[in-house]
Amino acid sequence: MELIFATNNQHKIDEIRSLLTNEFDLITLKEAGIDIDIPEPYDSLEENASGKSKTIYDMKGVNCFSEDTGLEVAALNGEPGVKSARYAGEGRSFDANIEKLLINLADKKDWSARFRTVISLIIDDQETLFEGICEGKIIAEKRGGQGFGYDPVFIPTGSTKTFAEMSMQEKAQYSHRAKATEKLVAFLNNL
Ligand code: IMP
Repeated sequence: MELIFATNNQHKIDEIRSLLTNEFDLITLKEAGIDIDIPEPYDSLEENASGKSKTIYDMKGVNCFSEDTGLEVAALNGEPGVKSARYAGEGRSFDANIEKLLINLADKKDWSARFRTVISLIIDDQETLFEGICEGKIIAEKRGGQGFGYDPVFIPTGSTKTFAEMSMQEKAQYSHRAKATEKLVAFLNNL
């Protein structure tokens, strides 16, 4: 089955491609000849994921999915959440976002946090949502050089390593994106 993955984020493409079995032919926006930065204007991961997959489905009429992910920090009332990419401003800098997060957490006792991914799949005009959650905690010093975003300061529950100290395969044993993708694959296999 051919599926367009509505993202321009190469890290997300690599992670999800490594989780999909051979019967799914994942096509990126670039490979589909679509050169747009799909907006994420909404206040929830669900609405943003839906908006992105509907944009591509309306444009191409091809089965597709998208995902939206946020880092939800308990002591910051769930922030940065849906604003994770632009937490420190429109520059979307990973380093600036981490710096702002650590400044905001400096006077907090509880550094527990979770990543939450929502995938919106559209098959033949029918939308289905899948969620994946990874619980963990933020640490004060960046560690590791792999991954992206907040990976250098996030340790998933059950590990002593940050996501940025893990290979993609190791991250997938814990990750929000892997959990949501597993649900997507199970759904597709049942069609
Ligand atoms: P979006 O889903 O593209 O809006 O992603 C929001 C932001 O969350 C990204 O720019 C990253 O900073 C962060 N993010 C998303 N997924 C991950 C992840 O797996 N690890 C670390 N940061 C992530």
